[in-house]
Formats: sequence, structure tokens, C-alpha cells
Amino acid sequence: MVEKIAVIGGSGVYDLFDDMSAIDVDTPYGDVKGIEMVRLEDTEIYFLSRHGSTHSVPPHKVNYRANIYAFFKLGVESIFSTNAVGSISPKIKPGHFVIPDQFIDMTKNRASTFFDGDTTLEFGDGTIRKGVVHLDYTSPYCPRIRDTFVSLLKSEKKKVYDGGVYVCTEGPRFESSAEIVMYQKIGGTLVGMTTLPEATLAREAKICYATLCLVTNYGAGMQETVSHEEVVEVFRENINVIQRVLKNTITHSFKEPLCNCKK
Ligand code: HPA
Repeated sequence: MVEKIAVIGGSGVYDLFDDMSAIDVDTPYGDVKGIEMVRLEDTEIYFLSRHGSTHSVPPHKVNYRANIYAFFKLGVESIFSTNAVGSISPKIKPGHFVIPDQFIDMTKNRASTFFDGDTTLEFGDGTIRKGVVHLDYTSPYCPRIRDTFVSLLKSEKKKVYDGGVYVCTEGPRFESSAEIVMYQKIGGTLVGMTTLPEATLAREAKICYATLCLVTNYGAGMQETVSHEEVVEVFRENINVIQRVLKNTITHSFKEPLCNCKK
């Protein structure tokens, strides 16, 4: 059986393998253009740049439902995502990696579910989801993908935190310092703009999902100012490691059902 894996590249990650061919996928939420595909032995790999190849789509305008539906339609079983984040925990520094195990949703204006109309999702095992759907998000990120990210980053000799709470804001602006204090008080570790609703839609579509977060800055008020330029610069410095970890994660097998993501 061919295993199908997708990588969603965030800020700073705009490609993965040479010789990928581009495909367009139509979905009930709009067409997804610019998915790239390559087959390596018995694995089919899809790559999508979340913000477009020239970073033209801001976080609040990403068509998350179309993107995840496209992967569902292609039969993808696992999604490996990357996110640029700010650290709101003093001990976690720019250049460190965090593999979050929780999120807090502070987004405001995003279509966040497939199940707000007449969508029916039919799965390969014969099950369907439709109508009013309430899913469990006690552990919102796939533990198997998380473990693999952590061990591969450790073997790259990178500072990596296993677990953390990703506070997802609406963006596209950065936060005020008072907001960062609030996010610290409610238990946040990181602040970013894009893990939601990506992570929750993936679970609705029975796709395992985890994200590799690179800290590019401290949250507002913990350093003088926050700029997109520093986000890009820290990603540029770490892009080779990130691409190696993503590629090595792909060669791990995620076939055995050892997680609860698809239940
Ligand atoms: N806030 C929100 N999103 C981010 C940040 C930040 O400080 N850094 C990178 N993405």
C-alpha cells in the first residue's frame, strides 16, 4: 500500500524536494493550487506552502478548509506542519524548537469546521462523518509524529522542548505586550497565527497532524519590538535542519494505528 504524507510549510519553508510536480485540487471550499507531489518508493509526498510560494497569503486569509479537504481527497494519512512562533516563556529562546502538545484558540474570524452545513466526509474504512459532529481534542496533536520530531531534532543537537501550549491568534498583527501577559497567565508557551484551524480540521478529516515550531522571537514586551524580518531571518538560519527533519520524519512509518487521532 502506498503511504500518503503531506507537509505544510509555514513562513520560511517554501519547498521540500527537487523535482516535485505541481497539482491543483478542487474542493467544495475552492481550488487549491500549488500542491507539489513526489513519489519516493512506496510513499507519496505532498507539499503545500501555507502562505503561497511568495508569502502572499496572510494567516487570517489562508483557506484552511480547502487545504485540509484537498489532502483528505488525496487520501493523505499524516500531515507534518511547520510554524514560526514567538516564545512567551523566558527560558525558551529564539532558535529553540518546540513541539507543542496543546493549543488555545484565540482566533476570531476563521471558518473552523467542515461540519457547519451539509458536508459529508466518507472515509476509506467505510465510516462517514456528517451533521453535528463533536470530536475529542484532549490531545490535539498526533503523539507519534510529535515523538519523531522531538527525537530527530535532538539527534540534530538542537534545543527542543517536548510539549507546550500554542496560543493561536488571529493576526496578521503581532500582539500588544498586555496580550502577551494575558497569554502567559492563561498558560501559553508560544504565540503564533496558523496552527488553527489546521490542526482541528485535520482531525475532523481523520488525518494525523503535528507541528514543528521554531521560535523566531520573544513575544511583544519581552523584547524591544517584534518584526517579520526577524521571523524570516531565524527561519533562514534553520531551514536546512528543518528540511532534514521533515524528510527524515517522512521515512518513518506511520502505518500502525498507535494513536487515537483517527477515532
Ligand atoms: N506572534 C505571533 N505570531 C508569530 C510571532 C509572534 O510573536 N512570531 C512568529 N509568529
